[in-house]
Amino acid sequence: MFWKSVVGKLAITILLLVSFVLFILTMLLLEFFENFHIQEAERDMMQTATKVSIMVETYHDRNMIIDTTERVVDPASRVVIVFDDEAWTSDSNNKNLASIDLNWLKHEKDLSRVINENKEVKKQIVLPNTDVEAMIVGTPVEDKGAVFVYQALDVIDQTKAETTKIIFLAAGIAIVLTTIFAVFLSTRITAPLIKMREAALDLTRGEFNTKVPILTHDEIGELAIAFNRMGRQLNFHINALRQEKEQLSGILSSMADGVVTLNRNGEMMVTNPPADRFIDDWYFENSIPISEKDNRLPSELNVILQEVIETEKEVLEEISLQGRNWVMIMTPLYDQNYVRGAVAVVRDMTEERRLDKLRKDFISNVSHELRTPISMLQGYSEAIVDDIAETKEEKNELAQIIYEESLRLSRLVNDLLDLGRMEAGHEQLRKEQIDVQSYINRIIKKFNGVAEDNHIGLKLTMETDSNIATFDSDAIEQVFTNLIDNAFRHTEENGFVHVKINNNEQEFEVSIEDNGSGIPEEDLPFVFERFYKADKARTRNGQKKGTGLGLAIVKNIIDAHEGVITVKSKLNQGTTFHFKIPQK
Ligand SMILES: Nc1ncnc2c1ncn2[C@@H]1O[C@H](COP(=O)(O)OP(=O)(O)OP(=O)(O)O)[C@@H](O)[C@H]1O
Ligand SMILES: [Mg+2]
Repeated sequence: MFWKSVVGKLAITILLLVSFVLFILTMLLLEFFENFHIQEAERDMMQTATKVSIMVETYHDRNMIIDTTERVVDPASRVVIVFDDEAWTSDSNNKNLASIDLNWLKHEKDLSRVINENKEVKKQIVLPNTDVEAMIVGTPVEDKGAVFVYQALDVIDQTKAETTKIIFLAAGIAIVLTTIFAVFLSTRITAPLIKMREAALDLTRGEFNTKVPILTHDEIGELAIAFNRMGRQLNFHINALRQEKEQLSGILSSMADGVVTLNRNGEMMVTNPPADRFIDDWYFENSIPISEKDNRLPSELNVILQEVIETEKEVLEEISLQGRNWVMIMTPLYDQNYVRGAVAVVRDMTEERRLDKLRKDFISNVSHELRTPISMLQGYSEAIVDDIAETKEEKNELAQIIYEESLRLSRLVNDLLDLGRMEAGHEQLRKEQIDVQSYINRIIKKFNGVAEDNHIGLKLTMETDSNIATFDSDAIEQVFTNLIDNAFRHTEENGFVHVKINNNEQEFEVSIEDNGSGIPEEDLPFVFERFYKADKARTRNGQKKGTGLGLAIVKNIIDAHEGVITVKSKLNQGTTFHFKIPQK
């Protein structure tokens, strides 16, 4: 671990560098001191030899020379003075330093030249009959012989060893100091780096407020400043992004249209609630259990996605699901020039489609209803103009038909106007307190004549906990009129129409029952729609002709009173309309 850290690498580099330099320095110093010691020793010995040789040359008294020499000479070395063919050797306190005899000196290759050729010689030798190494110098004495001085090499080696020890000690201290210094320095350099690494890890965890302390004013300090600045910028941008995202998701979730973003593989990245409803409907329609629903676009829709990706053009598709009409617009999403996916907007167009159909139906119904009476008016008036009818009776008959048709026309127009006003909410209800008993009796009396003419029994049953009810008397009278009129028109001779009233504090409840032709079951849900006529054929004959607006007006009036109207019917058995008006 330590080797891999910056501290380790730095410290080791410094240590290696210093060690290398120290090693070379030590080697050079050792070499230098070794030579130095040897040369020093040689010079010393040569000086001694020269002094003794001058003494030998100058004086003739051998005893005095020997005496003086013994005093002068360094006790660690020995001096050999060769007088003609006799040699004298000084004493030494070094027991190992054996004495050398004249014979050996004369026969040693280099040393003999001192005596024979009067030359100075410096040499390392092994002392005769021993294995002691020694350093020897010899200087000739004019005509009289020579002076040799020698010393054991251990003495020099000892001095050398001491110097070496000092050098190694110094090097050791230097290494220790360097190690401490290297570790200290690299720790100081890397401590802020370690702090920065921790701060960077904080950043990755999303803690953007982390700050690195600025401890120094060098490059690392500048790095810390740059790092802090980067942190602030990141924080700012992330905040901006987050706000943007929240805004976007707010817009998406409050949108009425469904939005789905898709990647190229058809995975849904973002959906909003309407889009979820659409996808759920899709799964339901294709009987895919919700548990199998992964986050992928249904395969049929994936085909559209692939088309968008290939053509890089917006694709519009209409889809009908569960009785609802959806329109899907899929637009490519770009990542620079590459289509990275698509965004699909789905809109529920059911209501628009329904209104559209309603409008078209309304226009065709109105024109159809108008066309019949108008063509009749045209035909019959033409017959009069062309004098086709000859007798006065015939003319009267034609005029009668024209009169009835024009009545029908005006009734149709009035009904349409009423309906239009009510649906637009312009019709204000004039609610008042009604004496139920007399009100109902008056209406029934109005129909008694018609009932007798058609041989239909008109029955009234009244249960009144209270005799007072509150509603718009004119409007409710129209409800009664339309319902009783319908009942009469669809009931054969000898049938009956039964009006039941139940009035109490809570509600005014009415049912109008007949045993007439009834309404086919499949038509029941539509009887309250404008222009709806259950039996298309019968509408064309005589007084049973209607426009199909009566029940639509009834429904509108009951709705305006916040009441409920229902119908029960069996074909060829009878029909019962039943409505309630709350009394609060
Ligand atoms: N009591 C009933 N028995 C059988 N069918 C009925 C009865 N009441 C209504 N219907 C059917 O419902 C249709 C719609 O009735 P609605 O009162 O709205 O129109 P209409 O009677 O044909 O015309 P309008 O009342 O405008 O003159 C009628 O055409 C008829 O087929
Ligand atoms: Mg009617």
